[in-house]
Formats: sequence, structure tokens, C-alpha cells
Amino acid sequence: MKGVVLAAGKGTRLYPVTKVVPKPLLPIAGKITLAYAFDQLKDCGVREICVVVGENEPAMREALGDGHQFGIDLQFVRQTDPHGLAHAVGFAKDFVGSDDFVLYLGDAIYSRSFAEHVERFRASGCANLNLVKPVEDPRRFGVANVDGERIVKLVEKPQHPESNLVMAGMYVFGPQLWEVLPDLTPSLRGEYEITDAIQLLVDRGELVLAGVYTGEWFDTGTLDSFLETTRFLVQNRSLVGAGAQVHGEIGSGVVIGEGAELDCDSIEDAAVLPGSKIQVKGSIRHCILGGEVSSSAGLDGVIRYGNVQ
Ligand code: DAU
Repeated sequence: MKGVVLAAGKGTRLYPVTKVVPKPLLPIAGKITLAYAFDQLKDCGVREICVVVGENEPAMREALGDGHQFGIDLQFVRQTDPHGLAHAVGFAKDFVGSDDFVLYLGDAIYSRSFAEHVERFRASGCANLNLVKPVEDPRRFGVANVDGERIVKLVEKPQHPESNLVMAGMYVFGPQLWEVLPDLTPSLRGEYEITDAIQLLVDRGELVLAGVYTGEWFDTGTLDSFLETTRFLVQNRSLVGAGAQVHGEIGSGVVIGEGAELDCDSIEDAAVLPGSKIQVKGSIRHCILGGEVSSSAGLDGVIRYGNVQ
């Protein structure tokens, strides 16, 4: 079993911070985002991992190296342009070879192991197993209709979802996937969708299973979800990284990165990135800051990296 982690997105929803630090490398609660993926994969016995990168390739290679610092064996492939998850995974075909593999969306973070689902894939001999989770509003996800444990229909971001079970960012595939990829056509949003690829497996009569995840699952792509994940991971305590200097009170659930300097007099949900120098007089509010920011009151939504626009 191998692992493929998709991390070629541009992270536009966290601009301008992700212009400086690629989103997969942003620290969340003191650990870089992709390290959560690596830990989960290791927990499933997966050590050979390929990260699909994009324009962020140089920074990703530099930060992650050959993976030994994470206890894994790491390779990279470059997706030329981000045309969807099924397009991205295609670049890892040679890496995977004839093995089975876990596909992990790089911005997903899970509160506990999903190894039992990978084990179920192995034991069942199915072509594909997908982590799913019931959510209140499924419209911004891939939505699965199930019959018992089998997935019988999948729709990407439907206006009128037929079920509340959504694709939760972790998929296990056998080699059958490679046979259906060439038959894909772009979706209405112009992407090669992994949900459409899985639908093709279903249409061919392959055994496609759902694994209901009962832990917490976070997609860290927006400021709100980034800070919500942070708060969950630090359990509403605050975390001040090594060498950070904080003058004044900070609230709970706030994370201050290593070596950061913060002169407080208000800041709110925070996640001040490592090495930042932040002066505050009066409010700053929602935050994730990096570089040098010296505010007089007035920032409110705030995703700033110094003066980067
Ligand atoms: O979060 C779960 C959802 O992820 C699923 O329910 C959907 O079925 C699935 O299509 C996907 O939807 P999103 O639209 O939220 O995916 P997003 O564009 O955020 O991409 C997910 C990850 O894949 C992200 O870390 C960036 C990476 N990626 C994305 C694209 C489009 C690539 O590496 N290459 C790409 O071309």
C-alpha cells in the first residue's frame, strides 16, 4: 500500500499568506499541515508517499526533503496545472505502479486514525473505499448515495443533495482506477473530478464501499476552518512556540508560532505564524499573520503576511 497526497492547489482562500508559505506547509497548532497527513498514513502502515505539487514545488521540496524527518520515504510529482483531483492523481500513476494506494487531500486533518477503514479495504478486496461523513449542508462536497455499505451513486457539489453523506478527503484505490481515468471528461466547473472517476467504477460494476468516519474531520482551506481546526487541536488552550515573546494577555485557543514577537493589547482568534513581529494597539480580530505587521486598530478579517498584497 502506498500513499498519494494532493497538495498542488494554490491556496487562494488564504492569500496573501499562501503566496509566501504554501498552504500545505502552514503550521497548524505547531505542526505543518502535511505532517498530519504523513502521521495518518504512517498509522495505516504506509511509508512510501508521493506528494503531488504544483507551482509550490521548490518550497515543498526544500521543506519536506526526502521525508526522513517525518519517518517516511517521500517523492514528488508535479501537476502542470490544477485541473481537478482526478487530473492530479494521474501524475502519481508511475509512482503507484501496480500497488493499492491511499489518496489523501492535503488540506484534510482528522482527529483520530482511519486505519480501520484502510484495513477494511484490504479485507474486502473491493476496488475502492471512500471515507464519508454525514454533514448538515452537503452542497459544497461530493455526495454519496449508499445501499448498505456500497456506494451506488456520487454527485460532486449537487444543488439538491440526495443524501447527507459526503466524501471526506480520504480514498483507498486498487489499480482499477487507472483504467477509468482516460474515460473522464471535465465537469461543469471544468475539472476532472475524482467523484466522477469513482462513479465510473460503480458503473462498471466494481465493488465501491463507503467507510463512515466517526471522528472530527477538518478541511483547513479557509481562515474560519483554519482557526477552528487550530482551536480543536489545542483544545482551547493557547500554544506559544519556542522562543516566542508575548507581552500581554492572549485569549484561549490562540497559537503563537515559534520565535514570533507579539506586543499585545488585543488580538482575537490568532494563529500568529512563526517568526512574525506583530505590534498591536487596539483590535486585530480574526487573524493569521506572518512577517511584520504593526497595526493601529482597524484590521478586522485579517489574513496578512507583512506587506505582501
Ligand atoms: O474536502 C472534501 C471534498 O474535496 C470532497 O467532498 C469533494 O468530493 C472533492 O472534490 C474535494 O472538493 P474541493 O472542491 O473542496 O477540493 P479542492 O479544490 O479544495 O482540492 C482538495 C485538495 O486537492 C487541495 O489540498 C488541493 C488539491 N488539489 C486540488 C485540485 C483542484 C490538487 O492537488 N490539484 C488540483 O487540481
